[in-house]
Amino acid sequence: MKKLALSLTAALALALPAQAQSKYPERPITMIVPFAAGGPTDIIARIVGENMSKTLGQQVVVENVAGAGGTTGITRAVTATPDGYTIAMGHLGTFSAAPATYPGLKYDPINGMQTIGLAGGTPILIVAKKAFAPKDLKEFVTYVKANTDKVNEAHAGVGSVSWTTCTLLKGQLGVPKLNSVAYRGTGPALNDLVSGQVDFMCDQIVSVAEQIKAGTIKAYAIASAERSPALPDVPTTKEAGLPEYQIEAWNGIAAPKGLPKDVVDKLVDALDKALNDETVKKRLLDLGTVLPTKEERTPAGFAALIKRDADKLSPVLSAAPKQ
Ligand code: MLT
Repeated sequence: MKKLALSLTAALALALPAQAQSKYPERPITMIVPFAAGGPTDIIARIVGENMSKTLGQQVVVENVAGAGGTTGITRAVTATPDGYTIAMGHLGTFSAAPATYPGLKYDPINGMQTIGLAGGTPILIVAKKAFAPKDLKEFVTYVKANTDKVNEAHAGVGSVSWTTCTLLKGQLGVPKLNSVAYRGTGPALNDLVSGQVDFMCDQIVSVAEQIKAGTIKAYAIASAERSPALPDVPTTKEAGLPEYQIEAWNGIAAPKGLPKDVVDKLVDALDKALNDETVKKRLLDLGTVLPTKEERTPAGFAALIKRDADKLSPVLSAAPKQ
């Protein structure tokens, strides 16, 4: 009897660390957005994070840590203590483009962080200020080629999605250098596009859909295989005369490597529940987001997407001018 009591005590002692871990989260979680407020990363983080808070029982607080094309904020997030209280909303730029763009990058998106899951696919649009002379994509191509010294392109910093996708576009047009204006996010860049201070940019649908519908900026084309249900009047690049320009962006969540398995599982579950929530789905779909598949919502599925796009982008971006 005495022996049984002792082994029960030992078993309870062994179970204690697991019990302590399973109390996660006991305080608010910081979700770092590596760009200024009002851009696509910020918008998706706030929509998804708000719902994740309900599942987790603690607030997911968005903190904007902008700089260096998003790599400042992601460095801070993925080098934090791996306890689940610091996570990040990154994207195609910070996770797949940055390694080829910043040789001294202080994080390794492939082997040095814990992926949680994809939050949404974000089609890319070529957009311009309302008064920009070209009326359609064909005119835009001709105009840009003829005015490389005059045209101003806005982006969210070297390595960001707007920079990456416009770098691919410029490469295809044979105009590697234009006058580039870097912002701390495409939220502030879009404000300057609306007020006509910059000419054009390549941006994720999430932040530009409403402005296009309101007519405050114009869209030449969407760089996807199909038109977006959120912007059915905007032609694809194929329809508009530039079929080779096709690129899909996305946003997703990552955390520091070494996160306990039960914490990973809780974050994955909270993201999945957020993406299944009817209100969240409607808000994301209205902004043109493509909802992730079940596989893409898993750590392994998201990691595979990051690697696939890093392999694709790396040769082009390593050779591109960093401006
Ligand atoms: C980007 O261009 O990388 C993003 O649109 C930046 C942002 O979310 O503001």
